[in-house]
Amino acid sequence: MEHQMLDYYAKDLIKKAGIKIRHSFSSELAVESKSDANDLVTNIDKEIEQYFIHHIRKDYPGHLILGEEGFGDNVSALDGYVWMLDPIDGTMNFIHQQRNFAISLGIYKDGVGVLGYIYDVIHNELYSAQKGHGAYLNDEPIPVLESTTISEAIIGLSPNWIIPNRRIDNEGLIKLVQDVRGIRSYGSAALELAYVATGRIDAYISLRLSPWDIAGGVVIAQEVGAVATNLNGQPLKFLEQDTFLVARKSIHETLLSNYISLK
Ligand code: IPD
Ligand code: CA
Ligand code: CA
Repeated sequence: MEHQMLDYYAKDLIKKAGIKIRHSFSSELAVESKSDANDLVTNIDKEIEQYFIHHIRKDYPGHLILGEEGFGDNVSALDGYVWMLDPIDGTMNFIHQQRNFAISLGIYKDGVGVLGYIYDVIHNELYSAQKGHGAYLNDEPIPVLESTTISEAIIGLSPNWIIPNRRIDNEGLIKLVQDVRGIRSYGSAALELAYVATGRIDAYISLRLSPWDIAGGVVIAQEVGAVATNLNGQPLKFLEQDTFLVARKSIHETLLSNYISLK
């Protein structure tokens, strides 16, 4: 019951934030770079994060907020309720394409994901899940994932990891490209998780994601039977950046053991 109320509340906030994002298309964006020239942030990323934080602090004063743009709390432990928010996941797409981005939100209680949301603002598609109660795309239940094989799988993977790099043996990923049906890269970790949950792709691999990129999507994907770990096969910690794999259960282990070799 407690989570039912939180669910209504979170969905309402997300939808209102989506309206703000849609309205922002009529005004000029202020774009800045963060850690490097291609790590972008806009005034809208910041405004949307502040919008969430303002409301959550007022209505749930005991809860902590971990937000990408840094307006939330300094979260060093996951005791109690922690909201993990990426106000716009896929900012580069938001700036260049005005699509292929999402609001990503996970609500964790004592380190366990209890509610998860990914809102594809442009398509007005809200993916959501409450732990133990299944996952939904808007009001429709998302079916539990069936098994697949590597040769029939479509994998979400950035081309950055298929060229030589300092994090992963790219030869393994070249073999993966050769063995699977197809590779896709959408530029929004949250949407790629939503696509795994809905069976549009069969796995998503990343070498570096932050808790706010995956917190909502992991709750959703797990509700339909997908398996999410880091690339060492260990449980996710949600306190720092880590490698990431989410996949249909039937191919998760094979992906780790046959194709992924971290440096
Ligand atoms: C990024 C996107 C991208 C992923 C990056 C993330 P942002 O998030 O999810 O797909 O490859 O690692 O940082 O910066 O657009 O919120
Ligand atoms: Ca992100
Ligand atoms: Ca972001």
